[in-house]
Amino acid sequence: MRAYADNDYPADHKPDWKVIAGLWPYLAEFRGRVMLALGFLVFSKLATVATPFALKYIVDYLDQNRSGDILTWIPVLLVVAYGLLRFGSTLFSELRDAVFARVAERAMRRVSLRVFEHLHNRELAFHLDRKTGGLARDIERGTNGISFLLRFTLFNIVPTLLEILLVAGILFVVFNVGYVLAILVAVVVYVVFSIKVTEWRTKYVREANARDNQSNSRAVDSLLNYETVKYFNNERFEAELYDQDLDDWEQARLKNRLSLAALNSGQALIIGAAMIVIMAMAVQEVASGEITLGDFTMINAYLLQLFIPLNALGFVYREIRQALVNVERLFGLLGDEPVIEDAPSAKALVVEKGDVRFDHVHFGYRPNRQILRNVSFSIPAGHTVAVVGASGAGKSTLARLLFRFYDVNQGSITIDGQDIREVTQDSLRSAIGVVPQDTVLFNDTLFRNLAYGRPDASEEEVYQAARMAHLEQFIHSLPDGYNTQVGERGLKLSGGEKQRVAIARVILKNPPLLILDEATSSLDSLSEQAILGALKEVSRQRTSLVIAHRLSTTRDADTILVMEGGRIVESGNHVELLGQKGHYARLWEQQHRIGDDVVRQAPDHGPWP
Ligand SMILES: Nc1ncnc2c1ncn2[C@@H]1O[C@H](COP(=O)(O)OP(=O)(O)OP(=O)(O)O)[C@@H](O)[C@H]1O
Ligand SMILES: [Mg+2]
Repeated sequence: MRAYADNDYPADHKPDWKVIAGLWPYLAEFRGRVMLALGFLVFSKLATVATPFALKYIVDYLDQNRSGDILTWIPVLLVVAYGLLRFGSTLFSELRDAVFARVAERAMRRVSLRVFEHLHNRELAFHLDRKTGGLARDIERGTNGISFLLRFTLFNIVPTLLEILLVAGILFVVFNVGYVLAILVAVVVYVVFSIKVTEWRTKYVREANARDNQSNSRAVDSLLNYETVKYFNNERFEAELYDQDLDDWEQARLKNRLSLAALNSGQALIIGAAMIVIMAMAVQEVASGEITLGDFTMINAYLLQLFIPLNALGFVYREIRQALVNVERLFGLLGDEPVIEDAPSAKALVVEKGDVRFDHVHFGYRPNRQILRNVSFSIPAGHTVAVVGASGAGKSTLARLLFRFYDVNQGSITIDGQDIREVTQDSLRSAIGVVPQDTVLFNDTLFRNLAYGRPDASEEEVYQAARMAHLEQFIHSLPDGYNTQVGERGLKLSGGEKQRVAIARVILKNPPLLILDEATSSLDSLSEQAILGALKEVSRQRTSLVIAHRLSTTRDADTILVMEGGRIVESGNHVELLGQKGHYARLWEQQHRIGDDVVRQAPDHGPWP
């Protein structure tokens, strides 16, 4: 897996022009519109190039009829034509934009969706490594970049070059080669200068972006940890860290601005110099009578008209390079292959009975740290296996492997004899219901969070699930009932309430296999008993993997596995394990002593069948 970091691209990374080819499919979707827009573009350019001609004839007419006393209709017509041409050039370019807007916006939509889906397809490890704030910025910049590339390469670079050629042609035909040479030299110098300087300052732009990502990630992370910050009175500390990032950002932005100022000034200097030379040539020729006053005006108009888009060409080149980098980065996100993928021959998982088997499983999240060592056990169909053991022993890891958030390093996990790597992830995951150790909710209403277990469930089914998870009383005590907003990540609910929401979701999902990871750890003993009753209903006839710290909740499981340091050190039912007088017996002893002394007496009979 490629680690995701802010500095993936070295400072001298050159934009990849091939990225543009990746945009073609988005254009192809609206072939008609693209052609229409190109048509408008041609009209608009023709009008633009014709305008100075109208101006020339007006001036020449006036110049030659200076002594005439009556204003005839000819100059009036010319003026009207001049105005219409100007209007036409703007109108057609607006029409072009209006027609093309749909293409660019649809492309942004398509890409945003693809990225979103792709991110959901990435493995858990990727998401644990990433920085949400920075990623969000990358997506935003990338999609904007796509729209920019589509609009500007097609409608700015190409037409500007076209216009330069047209004007050069006209000047060549109407006047002499001197003007053409002067203009071409100016354009070449201008373009070369813009490209060189733009390349030089790209590192500043990239630096500014990286600093922007960094400060943004920091701010998001800090705000997500709001409570932790308060617990330790670290507001000032957080602010200082953030300010250091902002300081870097400020410096980077400043360099960015200064280098931009240098670029703009240099461009203006080149344009100014070219204007001086060419206008001086024209003045000379007017004075010597070689060209008319109208010609002079026309040349001036062409120069102004030419350098405006050229000015934009510098900007556009900069932005296109930037957009290329952003889009490349976005496509890079898309290009990373998910580590966990469906095998080409993957079939849908068929759960007939629901036998789960871990066979000599070895696993580590990272190559240099082994977490599970040679773990083998099986859960016969419809049975419940409980896993107990110290914190960090690898209990939740078993659940993550069964759900295929990660692939085992050695050994295999099978369900009814089908290796979970050989079936589709979709079918595997829809067969397993999980009540996770930490439930995080969507920032939405309670109802929608509950219904998330099965979005097409009827209202009545959702209420039923809430009842079974013993949420009803709580919900009725809320002023807004099911419409209560649960806050970001569900933080407005208590730990036990969130847990019950998670249980209700699984009840709704109604899967053949169940994983309960400390599903009732946040509940008081009374609620726990009640819910365990409900879970017993749910897990009847279902294969269940139950992870718990409180041994009293697992004592009736068919088999209890005791884990230590990634190994199964004991297994058997409650009575057998007590008889072995090993780890389990000691744990039981301890918990009961604590139970007697401090907490409520743990109930004597657990619910597991
Ligand atoms: N994504 C991860 N990357 C690296 N190490 C991890 C990752 N997730 C968990 N670990 C490590 O794997 C070990 C086992 O974690 P696991 O969550 O399975 O423990 P557990 O038995 O469920 O503990 P607890 O009872 O506290 O929930 C821990 O030492 C943990 O630090
Ligand atoms: Mg755990």
